[in-house]
Amino acid sequence: MEGSIVALRKAQAAADRRGFLKRVAAITIGALVAIVPSAAGLVVFLDPLRRRSRSSDLVRVGSIDQLPADGRPRRFAVLAAHEDAWNRVPQRPVGAVYLRREPGSDRVDAVSAVCPHAGCFVTFQEQEGLFSCPCHGSRFERTGERIDPARCPSPRALDALATELREQRDETGQPIPGPGGRPRQEIWVRYQSFRAGAPAKIAVE
Ligand code: FES
Repeated sequence: MEGSIVALRKAQAAADRRGFLKRVAAITIGALVAIVPSAAGLVVFLDPLRRRSRSSDLVRVGSIDQLPADGRPRRFAVLAAHEDAWNRVPQRPVGAVYLRREPGSDRVDAVSAVCPHAGCFVTFQEQEGLFSCPCHGSRFERTGERIDPARCPSPRALDALATELREQRDETGQPIPGPGGRPRQEIWVRYQSFRAGAPAKIAVE
C-alpha cells in the first residue's frame, strides 16, 4: 500500500513539472510574439533619426561676379533644404553670410553673419569698412578679425566658413559663360552654426 502511495506521488510530481515547463514555454512564446512587432515598429519610428541632417552640406549662395572686386564683403542669405527627424522642408532661410573676394584673385572667403558673442547679426559698415554688431558693440575687420580684442565683447573672430567654387552649367552640362567669357563660377558655402560666447569655434548641430 505504501509503495502505491509513493508511486502516485512521483507521478503527480512529474505531471506538475510538465505543467510548469509548458507554462514557461507559453509565456516565452507570447513575449516574443509581442516584442518582435514592437521592435520592428520602433525601428521604423526612429529611422528618421538615423538619417543625417543636411543642414551642414554645401549650399549655393551666389556667383563670383556678384562680389565687389575691391575686397568689400557682401551679404547673402543662405537658403537650404532642411531635413530633421520627421520633416523635409524643401528650401527655407537658414542664415546669412558675408562673402569677400580677394582683390586680384578668384579666392573667396566667407564668414557667418552671426556675432559670436551672443548671436546677433553683424552688418558691414561701408563707410568705415568694418563689421559692427548692434547688440553690444563688437567690431571686426573686413576679414572677420576682431578690432581691439581686449575690449571686444566677442570672444573670437567672426566664424569663417568653408567655400567652394563650382562652374555653373546648363542642362546639357555645358559651362555657362560669365563676364569675360570665362565660365561662370558659383560660390558654395558650408553653412554652420557655432557656439555663442565661447573663445573656441565649436560647431553645433
Ligand atoms: Fe554681438 Fe553681443 S551679440 S556684441
